Amino acid sequence: MKSYIVGNWKLNFTVGEASIYLHKLQKNLPNYRDIEVIIAPSTIALQPLSLQIDRHKMKLGAQNAFYRDYGAFTGETAFSQLRGIVDYCIVGHSERRYIFREDDKMVAKKVAAAVRNKITPILCIGETESERAFGETADVIRDQLIGGLSEVADDDLEKVIIAYEPIWAISSTKSAKLASPDEIAEVVSLIRKILGDTYGKKLAEEVPILFGGSVNSSNAGAYLTVPGVNGLLVGGASLILSEFTDIIEVAKRVKS
Ligand code: 13P
Repeated sequence: MKSYIVGNWKLNFTVGEASIYLHKLQKNLPNYRDIEVIIAPSTIALQPLSLQIDRHKMKLGAQNAFYRDYGAFTGETAFSQLRGIVDYCIVGHSERRYIFREDDKMVAKKVAAAVRNKITPILCIGETESERAFGETADVIRDQLIGGLSEVADDDLEKVIIAYEPIWAISSTKSAKLASPDEIAEVVSLIRKILGDTYGKKLAEEVPILFGGSVNSSNAGAYLTVPGVNGLLVGGASLILSEFTDIIEVAKRVKS
Protein backbone atom coordinates (compact mmCIF):
# COMPACT_ATOMS: atom_id res chain seq x y z
CA MET A 1 0.00 0.00 0.00
CA LYS A 2 1.07 3.59 -0.66
CA SER A 3 2.12 5.87 2.20
CA TYR A 4 0.35 9.19 2.47
CA ILE A 5 2.05 12.34 3.75
CA VAL A 6 -0.53 15.10 4.07
CA GLY A 7 0.23 18.70 5.03
CA ASN A 8 -2.78 20.39 6.59
CA TRP A 9 -1.87 24.07 6.43
CA LYS A 10 -5.01 25.14 8.33
CA LEU A 11 -5.51 28.93 8.24
CA ASN A 12 -1.98 29.90 7.22
CA PHE A 13 -0.20 31.45 4.20
CA THR A 14 -1.41 34.00 1.67
CA VAL A 15 -1.93 32.74 -1.88
CA GLY A 16 1.49 34.17 -2.78
CA GLU A 17 3.22 32.44 0.12
CA ALA A 18 1.47 29.17 -0.70
CA SER A 19 2.62 29.42 -4.30
CA ILE A 20 6.26 30.05 -3.33
CA TYR A 21 6.18 27.11 -0.90
CA LEU A 22 4.75 24.81 -3.58
CA HIS A 23 7.35 25.97 -6.09
CA LYS A 24 10.20 25.18 -3.70
CA LEU A 25 8.71 21.88 -2.50
CA GLN A 26 8.08 20.34 -5.87
CA LYS A 27 11.32 21.62 -7.42
CA ASN A 28 13.36 19.17 -5.36
CA LEU A 29 10.76 16.46 -4.85
CA PRO A 30 11.42 13.21 -6.70
CA ASN A 31 8.48 11.39 -8.25
CA TYR A 32 7.89 8.81 -5.52
CA ARG A 33 5.55 6.11 -6.77
CA ASP A 34 4.82 4.64 -3.37
CA ILE A 35 4.38 7.91 -1.48
CA GLU A 36 1.42 10.20 -2.06
CA VAL A 37 2.40 13.71 -0.99
CA ILE A 38 -0.61 15.96 -0.46
CA ILE A 39 -0.82 19.59 0.61
CA ALA A 40 -4.06 21.09 1.86
CA PRO A 41 -3.94 24.91 1.64
CA SER A 42 -6.77 27.38 2.30
CA THR A 43 -9.67 27.23 -0.17
CA ILE A 44 -8.68 30.52 -1.83
CA ALA A 45 -5.29 29.10 -2.86
CA LEU A 46 -6.64 25.87 -4.36
CA GLN A 47 -7.51 27.09 -7.84
CA PRO A 48 -4.24 28.96 -8.54
CA LEU A 49 -2.16 26.14 -7.04
CA SER A 50 -4.04 23.60 -9.16
CA LEU A 51 -2.53 25.30 -12.23
CA GLN A 52 0.95 25.20 -10.72
CA ILE A 53 1.10 21.76 -9.12
CA ASP A 54 2.95 18.89 -10.78
CA ARG A 55 0.43 16.10 -10.27
CA HIS A 56 3.05 13.47 -11.06
CA LYS A 57 4.86 14.48 -7.90
CA MET A 58 2.10 15.50 -5.51
CA LYS A 59 -1.58 16.25 -5.08
CA LEU A 60 -3.82 19.00 -3.75
CA GLY A 61 -6.35 18.60 -0.98
CA ALA A 62 -8.99 20.93 0.45
CA GLN A 63 -9.45 21.34 4.20
CA ASN A 64 -13.24 21.45 4.09
CA ALA A 65 -16.15 21.89 1.70
CA PHE A 66 -19.94 21.92 1.81
CA TYR A 67 -22.08 18.93 0.93
CA ARG A 68 -24.73 20.62 -1.22
CA ASP A 69 -23.71 21.26 -4.82
CA TYR A 70 -25.35 24.70 -5.12
CA GLY A 71 -27.99 26.89 -3.50
CA ALA A 72 -28.53 29.50 -0.81
CA PHE A 73 -25.55 28.67 1.44
CA THR A 74 -23.76 31.98 1.88
CA GLY A 75 -20.03 31.69 2.27
CA GLU A 76 -19.72 28.00 1.47
CA THR A 77 -17.66 26.25 -1.21
CA ALA A 78 -19.11 23.05 -2.65
CA PHE A 79 -17.32 19.79 -3.35
CA SER A 80 -18.80 20.10 -6.83
CA GLN A 81 -16.86 23.37 -7.28
CA LEU A 82 -13.64 21.70 -6.17
CA ARG A 83 -14.06 18.78 -8.53
CA GLY A 84 -11.08 18.64 -10.87
CA ILE A 85 -9.19 21.16 -8.73
CA VAL A 86 -8.37 18.89 -5.77
CA ASP A 87 -7.94 15.14 -5.45
CA TYR A 88 -8.51 14.98 -1.68
CA CYS A 89 -10.47 16.77 1.03
CA ILE A 90 -10.04 16.60 4.79
CA VAL A 91 -13.48 16.02 6.32
CA GLY A 92 -14.55 16.20 9.96
CA HIS A 93 -11.30 17.60 11.31
CA SER A 94 -11.61 18.15 15.07
CA GLU A 95 -11.33 21.91 14.53
CA ARG A 96 -14.41 21.71 12.26
CA ARG A 97 -16.23 19.55 14.82
CA TYR A 98 -15.45 21.68 17.88
CA ILE A 99 -15.09 25.25 16.57
CA PHE A 100 -17.68 25.05 13.78
CA ARG A 101 -19.99 22.55 15.48
CA GLU A 102 -19.99 19.92 12.73
CA ASP A 103 -21.65 16.75 13.97
CA ASP A 104 -21.41 13.20 12.61
CA LYS A 105 -24.50 13.76 10.43
CA MET A 106 -22.93 16.71 8.67
CA VAL A 107 -19.59 14.93 8.43
CA ALA A 108 -21.36 11.94 6.82
CA LYS A 109 -22.96 14.17 4.18
CA LYS A 110 -19.61 15.74 3.42
CA VAL A 111 -17.87 12.36 3.08
CA ALA A 112 -20.59 11.26 0.64
CA ALA A 113 -20.45 14.55 -1.29
CA ALA A 114 -16.70 14.19 -1.68
CA VAL A 115 -17.01 10.66 -3.09
CA ARG A 116 -19.86 11.77 -5.38
CA ASN A 117 -17.56 14.47 -6.79
CA LYS A 118 -14.56 12.17 -7.30
CA ILE A 119 -12.64 13.68 -4.39
CA THR A 120 -11.09 11.28 -1.84
CA PRO A 121 -12.30 12.20 1.64
CA ILE A 122 -9.82 12.00 4.52
CA LEU A 123 -12.22 11.37 7.38
CA CYS A 124 -10.75 12.58 10.68
CA ILE A 125 -11.73 10.92 13.93
CA GLY A 126 -10.31 11.18 17.43
CA GLU A 127 -11.10 11.53 21.09
CA THR A 128 -10.57 14.44 23.47
CA GLU A 129 -8.33 14.21 26.52
CA SER A 130 -11.29 13.88 28.88
CA GLU A 131 -13.00 11.24 26.73
CA ARG A 132 -9.81 9.19 26.94
CA ALA A 133 -9.55 9.78 30.71
CA PHE A 134 -13.14 8.55 31.18
CA GLY A 135 -12.49 5.42 29.10
CA GLU A 136 -14.73 6.56 26.25
CA THR A 137 -12.17 6.38 23.44
CA ALA A 138 -13.56 3.21 21.84
CA ASP A 139 -17.14 4.55 21.83
CA VAL A 140 -16.11 7.91 20.37
CA ILE A 141 -14.05 6.24 17.64
CA ARG A 142 -16.90 3.86 16.79
CA ASP A 143 -19.50 6.66 16.65
CA GLN A 144 -17.35 8.96 14.53
CA LEU A 145 -16.28 6.16 12.19
CA ILE A 146 -19.65 4.49 11.62
CA GLY A 147 -21.41 7.88 11.68
CA GLY A 148 -18.98 9.46 9.21
CA LEU A 149 -19.27 6.57 6.75
CA SER A 150 -23.03 6.16 7.07
CA GLU A 151 -23.96 7.94 3.82
CA VAL A 152 -21.38 6.22 1.63
CA ALA A 153 -22.54 3.30 -0.53
CA ASP A 154 -20.76 0.03 0.33
CA ASP A 155 -19.08 -0.08 -3.07
CA ASP A 156 -17.58 3.36 -2.49
CA LEU A 157 -16.13 2.73 0.97
CA GLU A 158 -12.79 1.78 -0.55
CA LYS A 159 -12.50 5.40 -1.77
CA VAL A 160 -12.20 6.74 1.78
CA ILE A 161 -9.09 7.42 3.88
CA ILE A 162 -9.32 7.52 7.68
CA ALA A 163 -7.14 9.78 9.81
CA TYR A 164 -6.83 9.10 13.53
CA GLU A 165 -6.09 12.37 15.27
CA PRO A 166 -6.36 12.25 19.06
CA ILE A 167 -7.27 15.83 19.93
CA TRP A 168 -5.01 15.83 23.01
CA ALA A 169 -2.03 15.24 20.71
CA ILE A 170 -2.69 18.11 18.27
CA SER A 171 0.02 20.73 18.75
CA SER A 172 -2.40 23.66 19.03
CA THR A 173 -4.30 21.97 21.88
CA LYS A 174 -3.43 23.43 25.29
CA SER A 175 -0.85 21.20 27.01
CA ALA A 176 -0.73 18.82 24.04
CA LYS A 177 0.97 15.49 24.70
CA LEU A 178 2.72 13.20 22.27
CA ALA A 179 0.79 10.02 21.51
CA SER A 180 2.90 6.90 22.01
CA PRO A 181 3.20 4.32 19.22
CA ASP A 182 1.41 1.81 21.49
CA GLU A 183 -1.53 4.17 22.07
CA ILE A 184 -1.84 4.74 18.33
CA ALA A 185 -1.51 1.03 17.50
CA GLU A 186 -4.35 0.21 19.87
CA VAL A 187 -6.79 2.68 18.30
CA VAL A 188 -5.73 1.86 14.72
CA SER A 189 -6.36 -1.80 15.38
CA LEU A 190 -9.74 -0.90 16.89
CA ILE A 191 -10.59 1.09 13.75
CA ARG A 192 -9.72 -1.91 11.55
CA LYS A 193 -11.75 -4.20 13.80
CA ILE A 194 -14.82 -1.94 13.62
CA LEU A 195 -14.45 -1.72 9.82
CA GLY A 196 -14.09 -5.49 9.60
CA ASP A 197 -17.10 -6.21 11.81
CA THR A 198 -19.25 -3.69 9.96
CA TYR A 199 -18.14 -3.89 6.34
CA GLY A 200 -15.99 -7.00 6.03
CA LYS A 201 -12.37 -8.07 6.18
CA LYS A 202 -11.28 -6.78 2.78
CA LEU A 203 -12.18 -3.18 3.52
CA ALA A 204 -10.72 -3.40 7.02
CA GLU A 205 -7.37 -4.44 5.57
CA GLU A 206 -7.33 -2.07 2.61
CA VAL A 207 -8.51 1.29 3.96
CA PRO A 208 -5.51 3.58 4.50
CA ILE A 209 -5.31 4.90 8.05
CA LEU A 210 -3.20 7.98 8.78
CA PHE A 211 -2.03 9.32 12.11
CA GLY A 212 -1.99 13.00 13.03
CA GLY A 213 -0.97 14.90 16.15
CA SER A 214 2.31 16.83 16.65
CA VAL A 215 4.04 14.89 13.89
CA ASN A 216 7.50 16.20 12.99
CA SER A 217 10.60 14.89 11.26
CA SER A 218 11.96 13.44 14.53
CA ASN A 219 8.93 11.31 15.41
CA ALA A 220 7.66 10.56 11.88
CA GLY A 221 9.71 7.35 11.63
CA ALA A 222 8.29 5.96 14.87
CA TYR A 223 4.73 6.81 13.86
CA LEU A 224 5.07 5.44 10.32
CA THR A 225 6.20 2.08 11.68
CA VAL A 226 3.17 1.67 13.97
CA PRO A 227 1.37 -1.45 12.72
CA GLY A 228 -1.59 -0.51 10.54
CA VAL A 229 -0.54 3.12 10.00
CA ASN A 230 -0.27 4.09 6.32
CA GLY A 231 0.67 7.73 6.56
CA LEU A 232 0.70 11.00 8.44
CA LEU A 233 -1.52 14.07 8.66
CA VAL A 234 0.83 16.89 9.57
CA GLY A 235 -0.26 20.30 10.86
CA GLY A 236 2.30 22.72 12.32
CA ALA A 237 5.39 20.96 10.96
CA SER A 238 4.01 21.07 7.39
CA LEU A 239 4.25 24.88 7.46
CA ILE A 240 8.05 24.61 7.61
CA LEU A 241 9.26 23.49 4.20
CA SER A 242 12.44 21.79 5.49
CA GLU A 243 10.45 19.86 8.11
CA PHE A 244 7.85 18.70 5.63
CA THR A 245 10.55 17.67 3.14
CA ASP A 246 12.35 15.75 5.90
CA ILE A 247 9.11 13.95 6.84
CA ILE A 248 8.67 12.87 3.21
CA GLU A 249 12.25 11.57 3.22
CA VAL A 250 11.62 9.65 6.44
CA ALA A 251 8.59 8.06 4.75
CA LYS A 252 10.77 7.10 1.80
CA ARG A 253 13.34 5.50 4.13
CA VAL A 254 10.64 3.60 6.04
CA LYS A 255 9.25 2.29 2.74
CA SER A 256 12.56 1.02 1.41
P1 13P B 1 -0.29 19.32 14.42
O1 13P B 1 0.61 18.49 13.55
O2 13P B 1 0.09 20.77 14.45
O3 13P B 1 -0.43 18.72 15.77
O4 13P B 1 -1.75 19.28 13.77
C1 13P B 1 -2.34 18.06 13.53
C2 13P B 1 -3.55 18.28 12.72
O5 13P B 1 -4.55 18.76 13.22
C3 13P B 1 -3.47 17.93 11.29
O6 13P B 1 -4.74 17.86 10.72
